[in-house]
Amino acid sequence: MRPETDLRRKELLRALGKTRDKTLWLLEQVPDEFLRRRVHSFYSPIGWHFGHVGRTEEYWVMSRALGQSVFDEKLSFLYADLAENPKDNRVNIPGREGTIEYLRQTRERVLGALKTCEFEEDSPFLADGYAWEFALQHECQHQETITEMLQLIQKQLPVSPVELPAWRTDHETNMIDIPGGTFQMGSDDLRGYDNEKGAHEVHVDDIRLASHPVTAIEWTQFMEDGGYHRPELWTAEGWAWRIAEQANCPEYWVPQNGGWVYFAPLGARAIHPDEPAMCLSWFEADAYARWRGKRLPTEEEWEYAAAYAGSRREPSMVRRFPWGDTPPTCDHASHALDRWAPSPVGSHPLGATPLGLADMAGGVWEWTSSRFLPYPRFSAFPYDGYSKDHMLGAHRVCRGGSWATAGAILRCSFRNWYVPTYRQGLLGMRLAEL
Ligand code: AVJ
Ligand code: FE
Repeated sequence: MRPETDLRRKELLRALGKTRDKTLWLLEQVPDEFLRRRVHSFYSPIGWHFGHVGRTEEYWVMSRALGQSVFDEKLSFLYADLAENPKDNRVNIPGREGTIEYLRQTRERVLGALKTCEFEEDSPFLADGYAWEFALQHECQHQETITEMLQLIQKQLPVSPVELPAWRTDHETNMIDIPGGTFQMGSDDLRGYDNEKGAHEVHVDDIRLASHPVTAIEWTQFMEDGGYHRPELWTAEGWAWRIAEQANCPEYWVPQNGGWVYFAPLGARAIHPDEPAMCLSWFEADAYARWRGKRLPTEEEWEYAAAYAGSRREPSMVRRFPWGDTPPTCDHASHALDRWAPSPVGSHPLGATPLGLADMAGGVWEWTSSRFLPYPRFSAFPYDGYSKDHMLGAHRVCRGGSWATAGAILRCSFRNWYVPTYRQGLLGMRLAEL
């Protein structure tokens, strides 16, 4: 065994273990009566996400990478995200003990294989331990979905009274000049997802972007100015959604004693006036930008600002993170569920870009105006259902990660996407000058 292989193996073992500890901790936070219940039409039952994490890693590692059979065909199907297994069928999953046991069995096989496998370079699943890396990043993504679902569950439980903070701010957001230029968008890192591969040069014109994401107190100014009741601020489609949804405030906000409370994953909490506004649909974000006489940035502008602007390097020398190439810590970004809420904007100066754009990584995902489309030379991997099937123009791209996003997926090139009606995600926004 080559020494690099051994090092990589240890790195994966450790990361998979740490991630699983967090997954099991999240499972403990789910009330029994909600494990197998669908709380929203968009989502499978929350318990399904836990088994699905085990199913996915066993399937890609044992079955697809190594050609072996899976240990429980029936559960492997029940936990698969396939059209033949619709969300209504997914309520038939095991209970808590069965879920934990399934996770244990699948993980044992996946780690057994990791300990003995050679990372053969000519196999796309094995080179650099790709199948395990995919399992790791996939589990991190589902942790975020689980977090969103804990909020939906809280929304169905009685709200206890919460002490509200003074509704004022000392924070100021400014518009930052970003000189245009050419940079390399995307990444050919072996560990990345198919949708971010195919690094290619992109030119971005001079732009001005907000130093911080839109905050909660700024959002209440939109509400107080009738933002939710003025059709001229919305696109026709957005207005139709607003009416149908009866949206008058962000999804998890609840009025209390003249202030606002938030249905956080572990219970109601006060909203901090300077925390980033979140759980906004794309339509809400778009209306807000119009109200301010501004717009959402494009995906190209966003990545340029995060990964390149402010450095005088060749176009290919992009930063992996807004601050540079060192891996994220809690001093760089609000992420990885380090708290059960985002920090007030501007709390992580160490994580700012050289031009002073703060909170690009972590905090809230930031909607862009761009549709989720393939980069030039896109090739679906490891399966069409990961990205390709969603690249038909119905989804908008969001960037940067949230307070629930793991460090493993906080990189500047990472692309996330949702339909514009989706308001249950940890999604906020940053303004761009028209
Ligand atoms: C990219 C977050 C929209 O949750 O459906 C998880 C990620 N893909 N399992 C999703 C994903 C397969 C995906 N999003
Ligand atoms: Fe999945």
